[in-house]
Amino acid sequence: DFAGQTVLLTAGPTVEDADPARFISNRSTGRMGAALAKIAARRGARVIFVHGPMSWPVPQAPAIRAIAVRSAEEMCNAVLAEIPHASVAILCAAVADYTPVAYSREKIKKGTAATFSLQLKRTPDILATVGALDQKPFLVGFAAETQDLTANAAAKLRQKHCDMLCANDITEPGCGFAVPTNRLTVLFADGRREDLPLLAKEEVAAKVLDLVRREMNSSQ
Ligand code: C5P
Repeated sequence: DFAGQTVLLTAGPTVEDADPARFISNRSTGRMGAALAKIAARRGARVIFVHGPMSWPVPQAPAIRAIAVRSAEEMCNAVLAEIPHASVAILCAAVADYTPVAYSREKIKKGTAATFSLQLKRTPDILATVGALDQKPFLVGFAAETQDLTANAAAKLRQKHCDMLCANDITEPGCGFAVPTNRLTVLFADGRREDLPLLAKEEVAAKVLDLVRREMNSSQ
């Protein structure tokens, strides 16, 4: 049911280098994005899989074109280059919100002071950038929350101009990073909401794609 569609996915963490030895990143493994890529390809889509350094295998299939990136800025550039080809974009990467203001070409020396500060600057918000385009694909965001799930997710859906936003509470057992399962609350631009049960990430991916298909059909 995705034949003829090109699905652009972002997945995994981004890595923000501070010096040749150190970086800032997060606990994302890329497993949810990998499951979406695999199942979208199985359902007939061409998949553009833009991913940060993953600790889960990058899915391999003839219909999946993987583009490896490292930082949020690189991921943003890759997404903006590929977005004109996509009819659907599902951005589920855990993009770093901040990156070091400057990369130090020499390893930063340990000082004698008891504390040390690394100055950080905002990274581009890829989802919001895509949401602001005139010509945009059917746009799905993800939101990992630790409090006020529905209110925060609804605000993100509006601010980033998504068609659909999949939110999960990462403090809930069996949800979020580095576990095989997930439980999503899916919000739609017109205010509707659907709560999915706790499922294996592959099953969550299939449900998300079912909802994308249904929403795209109903808006045609
Ligand atoms: O605001 P927050 O980071 O919680 O939003 C999460 C959503 O935004 C996810 O879909 C994530 O992939 C996307 N995002 C992004 N670029 C960023 C930060 C988040 O695309 N710099």
